[in-house]
Amino acid sequence: MSTRTSRIQVILGSTRQNRAGEQVARWITDLADARPDIDAELVDLRDFPLPFFDSPFPPKRALPDDPQVQTWAAKVADADGFILVTPEYNYGYSAVLKNALDTLYYEWNDKPVGIVGYGAIGGGLRAVMQLRQVVVELGLVQANAGVIVPFAGRAFGEDGTPSDEVTLRTANAMLNEVADWLPLLQAKRDAQAEAKLASDAKAEAKRAADAQAEDKRAAEEPETKKLAATA
Ligand SMILES: Cc1cc2nc3c(=O)[nH]c(=O)nc-3n(C[C@H](O)[C@H](O)[C@H](O)COP(=O)(O)O)c2cc1C
Repeated sequence: MSTRTSRIQVILGSTRQNRAGEQVARWITDLADARPDIDAELVDLRDFPLPFFDSPFPPKRALPDDPQVQTWAAKVADADGFILVTPEYNYGYSAVLKNALDTLYYEWNDKPVGIVGYGAIGGGLRAVMQLRQVVVELGLVQANAGVIVPFAGRAFGEDGTPSDEVTLRTANAMLNEVADWLPLLQAKRDAQAEAKLASDAKAEAKRAADAQAEDKRAAEEPETKKLAATA
């Protein structure tokens, strides 16, 4: 099992001009990064512009050669876990976040995720609930504690932390859960990678043995035919 500090990407799900989400994402990134067991990085989807999903194949089968998709895949593959920060738009999470999620598949698998929603009066709760269904299908393992930030534009003090004590408490509970999952899921991914190496090596050995047997058969064939002809 790896002993390195786990890399958590905080993915900001708003690319809107004048967005309130930046403050939410910065706060949760700093809170996560202050922990000794987590190395947190804010990932701004503005820096990873993606085509609107139009691949001929589901990402489970193949990713398109598109360099923007490849860059996004490499980025996500590098993480041990995620915190998704989503605004609530019309009772749902953001389209830009859905697109970023749908674009990949294996890169999300078997990693923990925490969800932070924010909005106006809804506080992002409905966005969080929707997102919970989606992350299951991507093989992400979610923290039970979900964070919501109502009226995000005015929820933070000058120090950049939320004025509401409950928000801070749920955020810490969520981070604890994500941190608990990190080594367990890392072990699962390591075991899967090892099993794949062993299975690839076995398949390669079988291919080599089959090829050797075929060479031997081909080398012996003229001799057999010659014997048959003189019989
Ligand atoms: C198109 C649109 C729809 C919205 N729908 C909701 C909503 O359903 N519930 C809610 O609480 N806030 C809603 N809001 C308010 C946003 O959640 C709030 O403005 C939030 O700051 C948006 O995130 P952003 O500024 O990071 O893009 C909506 C805002 C927009 C622009």
